[in-house]
Amino acid sequence: MPNPVKRQLVGNSEELPRNEKELLALIRPEALPRHVAVIMDGNGRWAAQRGLPRSAGHQAGIETLRRVVELCGELGIPILSAYAFSTENWRRPPEEVNFLMNLFVEYAAREIEELREKGVRVKVIGCRSELPPAVLAAAERLERETAQGERLLLNLAVNYGARREIVDAVRAIARKVRAGELEPEEIDEDTVAAHLYTAGLPDPDLLIRPAGEMRVSNFLLWQLAYTELYVTPVFWPDFSRVDFLQALVAYQRRERRFGGLKMS
Ligand code: FPP
Repeated sequence: MPNPVKRQLVGNSEELPRNEKELLALIRPEALPRHVAVIMDGNGRWAAQRGLPRSAGHQAGIETLRRVVELCGELGIPILSAYAFSTENWRRPPEEVNFLMNLFVEYAAREIEELREKGVRVKVIGCRSELPPAVLAAAERLERETAQGERLLLNLAVNYGARREIVDAVRAIARKVRAGELEPEEIDEDTVAAHLYTAGLPDPDLLIRPAGEMRVSNFLLWQLAYTELYVTPVFWPDFSRVDFLQALVAYQRRERRFGGLKMS
């Protein structure tokens, strides 16, 4: 008997077409994820493969982000969360950190018009107090000037760490308890969720991790509790429309039980 577990582990995309039209025909629009999260990994390896500096990989990664934003808009996926810079990424050499910070500022300046035209609303999630002033200003401008977007919410995680996010939420809740606004017994899962950067949003249905790493790297730890994980060996700069569509088809073939039993 075929082993469905094995099929799920090895069968992410191997048997799927590599043609956009054929993939689109396989997608059920009514069952698309409402929220997709992506870890934009493999930029450095992509660059190294080509004998290029790591910065070239990050630059190319921006193009992929644009592609994925566009496709989410076309398909009607309402929320995309993209991991751009983690609280741990400060450990990289200062040149790379500076490059990434500048890249964000440039991205904000260059893309703002197109994002507005496409109806994309940007929200920057992460710990803002440690961001260089130019990055903070670019983030605030992006948010302000795209605030009317109704087609897609793009959460850009910059200086983001999920443990830090949870610590911040716990502190905010503790302050409310101290102020007498909340009883400890009243604190439940909804209370915690309402104090995260993603307050009010549905949890991701699908997490896409390119470059083959089998971990979640401190991204949206609370929110990923029941998210479907999709790992592909493709490096982020090479991640194409076809790769994204394959991830969606693979997602739609999964059976989500949320801890319950098979529905049939
Ligand atoms: C991980 O690849 C990627 C990053 C740490 C940065 C991701 C950033 C971008 C795609 C561009 C920045 C986004 C915005 C919105 C400005 P890696 O460097 O760890 O790759 P490696 O694991 O192959 O070395």
